[in-house]
Amino acid sequence: MAHSGDSVLILDFGSQYTQLIARRVRELGVYAEILPCNATSEEIAAVNPRAIILSGSPFSVYAEGAPRCVPEVFTMGKPILGLCYGLQLIAHEMGGEVAKSAHREYGRAEISIEDKRSRLFKDIPDNSTVWMSHGDKLNKIPTGFHVTARSVNAPFAGIANADESIVALQFHPEVAHTEFGTKILSNFLFEIAHLKATWNPADFIEFTVAEIKQRVGDATVICALSGGVDSAVAAVLVHRAIGKQLKCIHVDNGLMRRDESAEVVHTFRDHFGIDLDFRDASDLFLDRLAGISEPEEKRKIIGKAFIDVLAEEATKFRDAKFLVQGTIYPDVIESLSFKGPSATIKSHHNVGGLPEKMDLKLIEPLRELFKDEVRNVGRALGIPEHFIDRHPFPGPGLAIRVIGEITREKLELLRSADAIFIEELRAQNLYASTWQAFAVLLPVQTVGVMGDERTYEKVVALRAVTSVDGMTADWAHLPHEFLAHVANRIANEVRGLSRVVYDISSKPPATIEWE
Ligand code: XMP
Repeated sequence: MAHSGDSVLILDFGSQYTQLIARRVRELGVYAEILPCNATSEEIAAVNPRAIILSGSPFSVYAEGAPRCVPEVFTMGKPILGLCYGLQLIAHEMGGEVAKSAHREYGRAEISIEDKRSRLFKDIPDNSTVWMSHGDKLNKIPTGFHVTARSVNAPFAGIANADESIVALQFHPEVAHTEFGTKILSNFLFEIAHLKATWNPADFIEFTVAEIKQRVGDATVICALSGGVDSAVAAVLVHRAIGKQLKCIHVDNGLMRRDESAEVVHTFRDHFGIDLDFRDASDLFLDRLAGISEPEEKRKIIGKAFIDVLAEEATKFRDAKFLVQGTIYPDVIESLSFKGPSATIKSHHNVGGLPEKMDLKLIEPLRELFKDEVRNVGRALGIPEHFIDRHPFPGPGLAIRVIGEITREKLELLRSADAIFIEELRAQNLYASTWQAFAVLLPVQTVGVMGDERTYEKVVALRAVTSVDGMTADWAHLPHEFLAHVANRIANEVRGLSRVVYDISSKPPATIEWE
């Protein structure tokens, strides 16, 4: 379905950076859509692109089975930007010559601009740093093309045809390491393709809502609302499209934080008027977890219990045809094959297996977006800020924060300590600057003293980390006075906890969660 404003089509030849190109283009205010490189002419025409970007690829253009696109791409008369493999493909298709490079280039490189009149390099210094990642290089440029930039190992770091309707770069302007990358992309969009910057979250919502309406028709759609940001944004978006045809289910697995289920029900049922079924399945989960202390076994039991409960709940909606999932781009495993039906997706433990079991098709309206883009869409949908800025919370919930065996009593202790920690972080404006913060209940008892009494009670660890993506993390350097205040409140207010420790491990070697 075509977007009403100006769109850029990105043809994906399998690069790990394809999504990043789309993100950068959207950040510049232009709608970008990705299609696998083998998209048909009709599929391409349906996007109605005003410009086309050819992505990189792990392949060599001269290798057998190297990915190609339909030849019409080059004859449509739309401005084309080729990046890395995209450059090599343009050269290959237009009579240039590509071969294995004697000097592979990975990482930082210096380019110098050769064509000072190039619109692609408008307002960019003659010398700058770029990010290269290629093992092949151009030996001969196609007739009618000229060199626009060079690097030491890539004498053809940039090429263009005479009117710059086809431009190509050996390096990656989409990555942050390329100093003037965003400016280069902006020059392509606005100086060469003359596009208008009209794309914003409201536009995304309008477009996606129309698309969902068209796809769903009058079918029933179900959604497991966990309380996380992604499933919340996905649900509200689908609700805006199809209203009462959306049936949400929130399962309390007994492993949620204090008042969390109540808040989910209140926000979505009362505030948004979403048709939401609430199922308290805590007994089922906690009974199945009794006596289990091994973390992976806990995860498996919880995953299986989720599917069992959801499948049972979903029998109320036998005519359901679709399942909404809050999959976002980082969940989509970066596979070397180009995107399309074959792309591998991380199985969200909470719905894994359900689509097959119930023969449901997936609706994943956020699968092209990054977390901060999802948050902006959520804000534009009117989801309250304290919901939008929430820290990530693991699917297995508090089960992996009660170290060892889980009991209801231990969960309550943990909830109390956790609630104090989070409340104080919010009160002191430290919540937003931490990536994730929580309490962990340790399976040890230590000696303490209260009044004249010797006590022998449990220990809680506080964990707070800073991170960009959760892949690596540093412990948050929270002020000592703040930690002292939280520890004091916990010891005074939570009966059964007399000792509080702060985790100062980074990831790696530790992980964010303790289990
Ligand atoms: P780790 O502990 O591996 O966590 O450093 C990285 C991020 O993932 C979250 N996490 C999980 N999320 N199911 C989830 O949905 C899980 O089993 C799980 N384990 C960890 C963790 O909270 C952090 O944000």
